[in-house]
Amino acid sequence: MDHRMPDAYTVRAAVALAVRAPSVHNSQPWQWHFDGRTVELRADPRRRLRRTDPDGRDLLVSCGCALHHFTVAAAAMGWAAQIHRLPEPGLLARIVLVPHDTRDGDIALAAAIPRRRSDRRRFAERPLPVRDEVFLQKSAADQGAVLRIVTEAPQRSALTGAAAEAGGLHRDDPDYEIELAAWSGHDYAPDGVPARNTVLASASPHELRVREFAGARLPDTAGPDGALLTVLATKGDSALDRLRAGEAASAVLLTATRLNLASCVNTEPIELTSTRGLIRDCVLDGRLEPQLVVRVGSLPEDATPLPATPRRPIGEVLRPHPHPYGAGLPIPEQLRGR
Ligand SMILES: Cc1cc2nc3c(=O)[nH]c(=O)nc-3n(C[C@H](O)[C@H](O)[C@H](O)COP(=O)(O)O)c2cc1C
Repeated sequence: MDHRMPDAYTVRAAVALAVRAPSVHNSQPWQWHFDGRTVELRADPRRRLRRTDPDGRDLLVSCGCALHHFTVAAAAMGWAAQIHRLPEPGLLARIVLVPHDTRDGDIALAAAIPRRRSDRRRFAERPLPVRDEVFLQKSAADQGAVLRIVTEAPQRSALTGAAAEAGGLHRDDPDYEIELAAWSGHDYAPDGVPARNTVLASASPHELRVREFAGARLPDTAGPDGALLTVLATKGDSALDRLRAGEAASAVLLTATRLNLASCVNTEPIELTSTRGLIRDCVLDGRLEPQLVVRVGSLPEDATPLPATPRRPIGEVLRPHPHPYGAGLPIPEQLRGR
């Protein structure tokens, strides 16, 4: 048996890539620990969006995205991740790294990590090659999830209708709006969604309405949105299903980037019970649980490159031991008032 283990620098480099994962409102709700033998991933409950994400679905999905990013980064560095998911209360994953022969595909997927962006602009009316659709669906299936491509008119209009309804319900909810304003529109915070990365939501009933963020000032591309609309779904809706949905979302988004496709997640219509039910019944035939809506497509040739969104310093999220978060601890500066 090979007992080699990665050193702390390798783990730090893999975590630095893992935290490039997408997360709801760029909340980065994770804590990583490495004690010299195993890597552990925990959710940071202080970063849950209480109004947007009342049942913690987005929080778990976000952590699942980071978990998959970590395995992709580790594989490119010559380590395969053996993951024990939800091994004990409060722990999302315990990861043991074992030596692995890095393949070209591992490097190509890891190289997509720093290139991926959540791109909320309209995509060109250029259909995806069927081969690319198959790659995307396979990447979700490999993580135990289903990527349903929504092409038929009734299902498309159910999906766009659910997104529009969710947007309207959120707009009428002052507590939601206060939370949104705290987490978006600030260009230089280490977390949250910068104004330079967000567009104004389209009012067209034929397009999937993107979530409206504070201060949106990214110019949208011209023309109707030609995005491929997909719903990422799981068989059940347990904590494990949500974590796995996050891993699958990461796989889909990195595969899309690797194929030089733009992408963006939208969970606004999943966050509300009524619109989630609509998607489950009208788009997934009542048989699967919707976890995320994902738009995929190509940008027009003249679209400007999007800047990367910021991340918290690595020393804040990677520690040797779990931090006793909770009672009596001072709330960090950046979270005050949220
Ligand atoms: C669970 C989850 C939910 C998200 N929901 C939305 C959404 O509803 N609308 C949106 O525009 N972006 C959404 N995002 C994308 C995040 O806002 C984005 O990942 C974050 O701002 C970091 O930017 P980046 O993906 O460009 O690195 C979501 C991401 C995750 C993981």
